[in-house]
Amino acid sequence: MIVALTGTPGTGKSTIGELLRSSGWTVVELSDIVRDGKVSTSLDTERGSLEVDPEELDKAVSSTLPSGDALLIGHLSHLLTVDLIIILRCRPSVLAERLRSRGWSEDKIWENMEAEACDVILVESVEMGGEVVELDTTSLDPSQAVAAVEEILAGEREKYAIGHVDWSDEVMGWF
Ligand SMILES: Nc1ncnc2c1ncn2[C@@H]1O[C@H](COP(=O)(O)OP(=O)(O)OP(=O)(O)O)[C@@H](O)[C@H]1O
Ligand SMILES: [Mg+2]
Repeated sequence: MIVALTGTPGTGKSTIGELLRSSGWTVVELSDIVRDGKVSTSLDTERGSLEVDPEELDKAVSSTLPSGDALLIGHLSHLLTVDLIIILRCRPSVLAERLRSRGWSEDKIWENMEAEACDVILVESVEMGGEVVELDTTSLDPSQAVAAVEEILAGEREKYAIGHVDWSDEVMGWF
């Protein structure tokens, strides 16, 4: 089974991915594939980020994937050919603290808080038409989040069904 572990920046994809790798899962960090020059990139000068074509990334990933189960880690992983999408979620105010501790600019933090609040990745994931679950990491520590992801990988779906994450109480305070 190929699984996408996606989510807004700062929700914990790489942290959880590394822990899963150390417990034996095959984990592919998509940013490594981009960094290795396996796909073409263009610079988004306004946002200061590298843009990648998901179709090209999909081809590059499928040509390098070993056989068997694998977890694809990254905020574009849900746009690739996968059997299951796991979306990591985080309350926007907590996400802001995680991103602030990285030294990110307030503009970039705000952009990501908005994306999280507006369910951007959830909507994109549902549009892919496959199986999607979501995990709220806000009050978990990384090891608890890993245990929850492992529970999902073992077959639990109902507990993590989409729709249970709702940041509207916090978002209403922004107006
Ligand atoms: N439950 C949790 N699960 C994962 N990370 C957590 C959790 N709680 C707090 N954190 C912290 O949040 C941060 C998440 O950063 P990480 O780089 O893993 O995010 P990411 O989703 O990979 O971001 P990016 O899209 O920018 O690569 C880390 O500092 C981690 O320690
Ligand atoms: Mg990461």
